[in-house]
Amino acid sequence: MKELAVQKCISCGAEYPSHEPIYSCRACGSLLEIKFPWLAETDGRSLASSWEHRSRTIWRFKELIPITGRVVSLMEGGTPIYLAEKAAKWAGVREIYIKFEGLNPTGSFKDRGMSVGVSKAVELGRKIVVCASTGNTSSSMSAYAAAAGLKAIVVVPKKGIAAGKLFQTVLHGAKTVQIAEGFDKALGSVLSKAVGSEVYILNSVNPWRIEGQKTLAFELWTDLKNTDYFVSVPVGNCGNISAIWKGFKELQTIDLIDRPPRLVAVQAEGASPFVDMVKKGENVLRPVENPTTIASAIRIGKPVNWMKALKAVRESEGLAEKVSDQLILEAQRILASEVGIGVEPASAASLAGVKKLVEKGLMDKSSTVVCVATGHALKDPNTEIISPYLSRRTLSLEELLKSV
Ligand SMILES: Cc1ncc(COP(=O)(O)O)c(C=O)c1O
Ligand SMILES: [Zn+2]
Repeated sequence: MKELAVQKCISCGAEYPSHEPIYSCRACGSLLEIKFPWLAETDGRSLASSWEHRSRTIWRFKELIPITGRVVSLMEGGTPIYLAEKAAKWAGVREIYIKFEGLNPTGSFKDRGMSVGVSKAVELGRKIVVCASTGNTSSSMSAYAAAAGLKAIVVVPKKGIAAGKLFQTVLHGAKTVQIAEGFDKALGSVLSKAVGSEVYILNSVNPWRIEGQKTLAFELWTDLKNTDYFVSVPVGNCGNISAIWKGFKELQTIDLIDRPPRLVAVQAEGASPFVDMVKKGENVLRPVENPTTIASAIRIGKPVNWMKALKAVRESEGLAEKVSDQLILEAQRILASEVGIGVEPASAASLAGVKKLVEKGLMDKSSTVVCVATGHALKDPNTEIISPYLSRRTLSLEELLKSV
């Protein structure tokens, strides 16, 4: 029987069948991605017309999500896209759309990938799933494992994880290991201890996660009907930007688009190994030992998917920028108080990056940009983020009524 999909090494091209639980190439150690041998012969138009009439979850695009067994879904995807005039004015560009991934079931884009990843775990007959996380991956995996009846184990940093994310993780029932070090160490220990065991690893090195997350590109195309814009993405482990790129490339392969949009990778100044590599024109990532930023979701010094993301940014003729925590918090405030969209700090980096690129003359003022708002504000009610709002002098009701 012809394979629906294969797992292919992005460096040496070695192929592995889709039923093999494998996270890196056995021949050269590089990353794997899912490939469809039949894709180039597919009639994109007829595929797209069948997507139109289905309910708005990622599974609307099921022909391009190669799961053959039971689908584990919490109705992820189908998130709204808002035209945000005030955000555009603040950043200095013609038009900004906010793709609000905070409205996924557990409040972040991770749910797209986790629906597919946990479905794959079920297909493979795995009973336990594991991940390292800065918080959103563990929240999502814990919920989807609960929905599937699987056991979940997560490794998270003890310090700095956002309260909402830790709460979701334990509430949904994951066995939680908190370590003194940061995310990079957590992922390192998951990979060194769990590869080869009977548990299934659901970090974004798992190529099936990417298959779910790529649907964001399909939604942008079905909603906006063109690709004449930048897509600005906050980058941590480099999984999401790689996934979005893969989605657009697949649309191009089936002739639904002429060319993908230009991608913009944004990192925080204290955790910017990927952006630094792109800016210096280097081809190898230099890890940051002690990444620091208020945006805990992207506090990552050694992104595992950097090779895929580098290809995405270069091939799309994209841009990369790093932003200060202060600018991230300002973008978060603009989105919340002037647009009405509450996002966590990491998500606001996508908007902050646009402002900085325009100021530096690297992005044209006439641009249209889709900012991916990756996670909900409720995720991260940590004191250091709330306190500047609370410390402003509060007026009495009488004083406030007089002042309007
Ligand atoms: C809210 C949020 N934004 C952005 C990212 C970065 O995504 P990636 O690690 O796939 O680059 C993450 C990852 O944890 C996240 O939780
Ligand atoms: Zn290889």
